[in-house]
Amino acid sequence: MKELLLPLLLLTTCTLGAQAQRRVYLREEFEDGDGWKKRWVESKHRPDYGKFQLTAGKFYGDKEKDKGLQTSEDAKFYALSTRFKPFSNENETLVVQFSVKHEQGIDCGGGYVKLFPDTLNQEDMHSESEYYIMFGPDICGFGNNKVQVILRHQGKYHENNKTIKCRISKDTHLYTLIIRPNATYEVKIDNQQVAAGGLEDDWDFLPPRKIKDPYARKPRKWDERLQIEDPEDKKPEDWEDFEYIPDPDAEKPDDWNEAMDGEWEGRLIPNLNYKGQWKPRIIDNPNYQGEWIHPEIDNPKYKPDPTICHYYNIGVLGLDLWQVKSGSIFDNFLLTTDEEFAEEVGNKTWGIRKDVEKQWREVYEEMEKRKQEEEAKKKKAKEEEREDDIWGIEEEGSEKDSAEEAGTDRQMKEDDAARAFLGGNEEVGVDQKDEL
Ligand SMILES: *[C@@H]1O[C@H](CO)[C@@H](O)[C@H](O)[C@H]1NC(C)=O
Ligand SMILES: *[C@@H]1O[C@H](CO)[C@@H](O)[C@H](O)[C@H]1NC(C)=O
Ligand SMILES: *[C@@H]1O[C@H](CO)[C@@H](O)[C@H](O)[C@H]1NC(C)=O
Ligand SMILES: *[C@@H]1O[C@H](CO)[C@@H](O)[C@H](O)[C@H]1NC(C)=O
Repeated sequence: MKELLLPLLLLTTCTLGAQAQRRVYLREEFEDGDGWKKRWVESKHRPDYGKFQLTAGKFYGDKEKDKGLQTSEDAKFYALSTRFKPFSNENETLVVQFSVKHEQGIDCGGGYVKLFPDTLNQEDMHSESEYYIMFGPDICGFGNNKVQVILRHQGKYHENNKTIKCRISKDTHLYTLIIRPNATYEVKIDNQQVAAGGLEDDWDFLPPRKIKDPYARKPRKWDERLQIEDPEDKKPEDWEDFEYIPDPDAEKPDDWNEAMDGEWEGRLIPNLNYKGQWKPRIIDNPNYQGEWIHPEIDNPKYKPDPTICHYYNIGVLGLDLWQVKSGSIFDNFLLTTDEEFAEEVGNKTWGIRKDVEKQWREVYEEMEKRKQEEEAKKKKAKEEEREDDIWGIEEEGSEKDSAEEAGTDRQMKEDDAARAFLGGNEEVGVDQKDEL
């Protein structure tokens, strides 16, 4: 614990030259065993919230350092939160950062955090509890995978209207939200910018700055036609556009009585010289004026609001989630005023362990695949045996047994290989510890 606290103290008190002091409001990396249970509070609002457990999961870069809070029960709500000294982001940048690993292959569920006012009763926290910021990946169904950035302003929640795709791989990903006092923001995934801009532009906090001039009308003669029929083009004299013509060989019957039968018309036959309907050729419109653009004016309803996303008593960070398939691991929570420091912390946690984790995941997935194949093979063999029993044929049985044995043998060799690889990993972990 001492080794852990010392660098933290140094970091929180060090200043950035003449600039504002760096502040760290929350840093939680779960490196003290069961200690988190004292810092995090489970809500009792419902009797059946899912349990979190501390684990690095099925694959990781470092078995100890990658331990985080994992959702452990399927189809459950989760509500857990941690408190820190309340702060305001009125005059300082706010950085919200954490990592999440959906190692279960999430199908539907949240992977986000919420920041609450310090007035929150943690024991009663639930999905309707008032919050300031909700940030992180949200996945449900095919193609529905986005990063939520929901911000409260004047009693209402506003979703980001610029869609940001989240990562759906099973690896750990680092999510960072930066909100600056000059009302700009940035979202990063794995320390790479994925969205940035002005808060006013990408959320509908305020009425738009400009609107279409209600008095402007498109001139009646405005020519928006890209192409027109060539007015110079004339139908050739000999163009035959009758599909049927009267049969020249037809003759009026002798007993035709015009008074009784009406005017005689010969039958029609297809016109062999028929050329189809004549159409003038199409040319570019020499008078094309382009698309008419509705002129805009300043919106009289717009009034800038310098208090957007200013929160005066941020005091609790919570995980308020619903997960169908559990297994997500949350780690490396950080709340700070310093963007660069957050990036550095990201590099030193997620950053240095992600490659080993990925290698390990690949080995793990390969092993899982083999295991499934083996099981499928065994199942098939059993079914065939059963069929053989029905027909009273037994000769093939012995052959199958030996095949199965060979399979088991191969499986054992793979397990050894994997163990050797994982053993190697543990060494990597030790090296990393020294670097840190
Ligand atoms: C932010 O700065 C203004 C102007 O200096 C000051 O009045 C206000 O108290 C500051 N807010 C906080 C939370 O420190
Ligand atoms: C807002 O602040 C950031 C960081 O200080 C700066 O890089 C950016 O240019 C500012 N943007 C505006 C619109 O003032
Ligand atoms: C997002 O909000 C801005 C400002 O209100 C608006 O101009 C823009 O059309 C919106 N975009 C989407 C995709 O809704
Ligand atoms: C984080 O790591 C990236 C990639 O190695 C590097 O470009 C960046 O400068 C690092 N940032 C900090 C603050 O250390």
